[in-house]
Amino acid sequence: MKRIFSGVKPTGHLTLGNYLGAVRRWVEVDQHRADALFSVADLHALTVEHDPARVRRLSRQAATLLLAAGLDAERCTLFVQSHVDEHTRLSYLLECTATDGEMRRMIQYREKAARERARGGSVRLSLLTYPVLMAADILAYGTDEVPVGDDQAQHVELTRDVAVRFNRRYGHTFTVPRATLPAVAARVMDLQDPSSKMGKSHGSGAGAVCLLDEPDVVRRKVMRAVTDGAPDVVYDREARPGLANLLELLAACQGADGSGEGAAGPEALAAAYRSYGDLKRDVAEAVVELLRPLRARHAELAADPGYVDGVLRRGAERARERARPVVDRAYRAVGLLPAV
Ligand code: TRP
Repeated sequence: MKRIFSGVKPTGHLTLGNYLGAVRRWVEVDQHRADALFSVADLHALTVEHDPARVRRLSRQAATLLLAAGLDAERCTLFVQSHVDEHTRLSYLLECTATDGEMRRMIQYREKAARERARGGSVRLSLLTYPVLMAADILAYGTDEVPVGDDQAQHVELTRDVAVRFNRRYGHTFTVPRATLPAVAARVMDLQDPSSKMGKSHGSGAGAVCLLDEPDVVRRKVMRAVTDGAPDVVYDREARPGLANLLELLAACQGADGSGEGAAGPEALAAAYRSYGDLKRDVAEAVVELLRPLRARHAELAADPGYVDGVLRRGAERARERARPVVDRAYRAVGLLPAV
């Protein structure tokens, strides 16, 4: 059976961008067609300045939200990265396989490090080596496919390079994975800055809808979304990115995210609107309705922490069973003396 691995980093509240760009596909497609593992990648949240209590809280919340969104603990493996030691064990071997030049070329590293230095801060070494830990996450499970947003494509490419190099040097050990990227329309942009992705940690948060935002907060964020000046409603990604984002968001909420469910795409939707006001009202209601069952289910699960703990405990056990033999094989292959 095909193996799928993906993860979310608990550095902020999960957003509509995370849901439409990745999580919805994990729920609706991936967990049904493969042996799928999904990880709350908490170690990755330590690569920038962090508050321990906040990381702990966000990790639990992310796991609860993934269940609320429809990941089924009977079907897939949901676990917390730091509960499975194999990730860090393997990461070190991959540090001995990748080069420092490869790490320094990573776009995300360059951007985040530059931002940190511009603020006069220091850059944690783990921010540089983070893609190697991500490669370990993936390779420890013999992963075939990695469903991620396109901002992670470069890291998956690096993972492939490292896997191929390791196999060539030490004998076949790792499956070489590939990224499966979402349909273009599933890329939700920031409502205040449509040139950047709607992310967990971007700006003030006014441009990002969090999955747990109250309906009135969702409405306010959508109604204040930047549009592009001109009065007419047309779909033009280049010239009218703010408007295009709203149209794509509406299409995605209605299911037309490129998966071809027969719902209207963004061009067709544009033709149906005379004014921004009407469009924004419909987008706001569509998002509120999309999130309503998720919020309700989250509230139920959050009231039963014992259940979530149980899911994560069994998830970590299953993950360990899968990763341990792969990582042990890698240890022997590079020449480490087996402990007896
Ligand atoms: N780095 C990913 C992100 O920032 C999260 C992640 C961690 C991940 N490990 C992974 C994604 C392994 C896919 C596979 O979104």
